[in-house]
Amino acid sequence: MPTVVCNESGLDTDLLRGDFPALQQLVHGRQLVYLDSAASSQTPRQVISALLEYYERDRSNVHRGVHELSQRATDKYESARYRLQRFLNAAEPEEVVWTRGATESINLVAAGWGRQNVGPGDEVLVSAMEHHSNIVPWQILCKERGARLRVIPMNRRGELVEGALDTMLSPRVRIVAVAHVSNALGTVNPVREIAAKAHAAGALCLVDGAQSAPHMPIDVQEMGCDFFALSGHKMCGPTGIGALYARRPVLEAMAPYQSGGDMISSVTFEHTEYNDLPHRFEAGTPAIAQAIGMAAAVDYLESLGMDRIQAHERDLLAYGTERLSAIPGLRLIGTARDKAAVVTFDLEGAHPADLGTLLDHQGIAVRVGHHCAEPAMRFFGLSAAARASFSFYNTRSDFDALAEAVETAKEILA
Ligand code: ALA
Repeated sequence: MPTVVCNESGLDTDLLRGDFPALQQLVHGRQLVYLDSAASSQTPRQVISALLEYYERDRSNVHRGVHELSQRATDKYESARYRLQRFLNAAEPEEVVWTRGATESINLVAAGWGRQNVGPGDEVLVSAMEHHSNIVPWQILCKERGARLRVIPMNRRGELVEGALDTMLSPRVRIVAVAHVSNALGTVNPVREIAAKAHAAGALCLVDGAQSAPHMPIDVQEMGCDFFALSGHKMCGPTGIGALYARRPVLEAMAPYQSGGDMISSVTFEHTEYNDLPHRFEAGTPAIAQAIGMAAAVDYLESLGMDRIQAHERDLLAYGTERLSAIPGLRLIGTARDKAAVVTFDLEGAHPADLGTLLDHQGIAVRVGHHCAEPAMRFFGLSAAARASFSFYNTRSDFDALAEAVETAKEILA
């Protein structure tokens, strides 16, 4: 359980920050201000303890041993799946497949579902604000299958153009793959509506939830998507673990993505029978410690309450947006009406890489670059921008520090 956690107005960030060892450090002689959680969040000690306990006590393989350690590891590994199922409100744990992260989850769908279901003349729709991980796997698939990748356009705010999806949907469209929250712009897309429209046109819907799962309550059944991809390291979990949620009938019909141990029920040199769900999609020794750590992360988030996390971060978004937009020469990139946990900006006359370095020297960690969303950056006429992305452990004072540091950087670069 967190040390925390709530005072009358919501999360008690002063107390809660004590759970995060990495936040308690000086960087270049200044208290660290960590504003790069969209790249990777920080890890609470509850997650670190779960990892340590596995390594110090339960270290062994899963699904393969009758001995005590293997039983314990298997129980913890499978219990982690239940906890993630509950977190996502998936109908059953078998609909949750462990992967290395959202990227692998999307690749799994593009290969395992796409090769069987996308053919010549078919179309795959993605949005103009996608992360490369929700573009490139589809691009490869379309090239391989003679299909066409089409892009749902966005407006200058960074919102999907109203009505565009309706005009693009046709019986040729096999899947609509969109980010729930844009990692580069922070836009929250209306995924429930998108999934309903895709289904009405006979297509499936994949939601890239890498940037939404850490910030808001997720209910995949209510969302109505067929696939939901997430990454553990963006939601206080370890690196190297993530998951794919897929509706059972869709998953049942999918071809294995990788093959080898654990994904089979019997093998001869002539023929292989595949294992039941979800193991059919988890070939080889899985990321056991990471799945266990991920369960601890999900427990941690749930104990804070995703509603409270969302409310706290909404306050930070409003405050951070106001603080930064008051800086002359600073342009916000991504001003959608519905946003989450990301403030991306361009500073006139400053190369983002220089700005990032100057901020780092003041103890402030932001990401600068194209944010793995080059097409989205290009749409705004940029090759790179600075991005402050935050989490429930950030405070208004982090944005005060950022705004002051940007002013200082501006003076230095002038
Ligand atoms: N996808 C991660 C980001 O947006 C790495 O920064």
